[in-house]
Amino acid sequence: MARRMVVVGNWKMNGWVETAQELTHSIITGLKEHHHRSDPCEVVLCPPATCLYPVSRCLEGSMVRLGGQNLSEFDHGPHTGEICGTMLRNVGCWYVIVGHSERRSGCGEDNERVARKMAAAFRDGLQPIVCVGETLDERDQGRALEVVREQMEGLFPLVPHSDQRQSLVIAYEPVWAIGTGRNASLEQIQEMHGLIRHVLCTRLGEDGERIRILYGGSVKPANAKAIFALEDVDGGLIGGASLNSSDFLAIIAAVPDRS
Ligand code: PGA
Repeated sequence: MARRMVVVGNWKMNGWVETAQELTHSIITGLKEHHHRSDPCEVVLCPPATCLYPVSRCLEGSMVRLGGQNLSEFDHGPHTGEICGTMLRNVGCWYVIVGHSERRSGCGEDNERVARKMAAAFRDGLQPIVCVGETLDERDQGRALEVVREQMEGLFPLVPHSDQRQSLVIAYEPVWAIGTGRNASLEQIQEMHGLIRHVLCTRLGEDGERIRILYGGSVKPANAKAIFALEDVDGGLIGGASLNSSDFLAIIAAVPDRS
């Protein structure tokens, strides 16, 4: 089954309105200038919350989509500092990252809360990009597959029963490969993506075949092509390299044409 490849830039807590607009402009211009294929893959930018609206204005008329980096599990009310899905929609978001490891470890997001946030995203018409991945300790203990399976299983009670569930995106990000320059090997990536695909298909039948599984963790222009060529890799979640337009464009250019 051909799934549309997607490359997501996670800018994390970096940038100001002006720098975010400049980066967005150079990405859009680069995509127009350098791409021979008219529609190589879907591209999503996830700036910090303060830059969502200005970036959304820059993206008007382009095919690049906007995404949030986090959302509240609640829909409105007394939750100081939180942002809900309808607010993200209101500023032009199509996607939202859910359960990034920096939030799981730094902000106490456990599997149950990640599932509730995913459900909130679906409820508000956003496509959740749910992150899963093991720590180095867990891999060293031989528990990587078990940990990721458990993170996946935690989602199913709240995955919608409708076709909407096909819009779920999973990002496998081994925690030890994020921002470290350390790469998971191609074998490790394919093994984990194969497991995630298996779990999705077992639980969701044919819909599981349509769900995209991204890889994230020190993806760079130099390694993107080999990673994107793997059977069960449907794109990437890019952190550091998405802050530099030429690196990000080179990563997009490494996406194979699967159409
Ligand atoms: P990295 O981050 O590409 O800088 O490793 C990926 C991520 O955290 O999403």
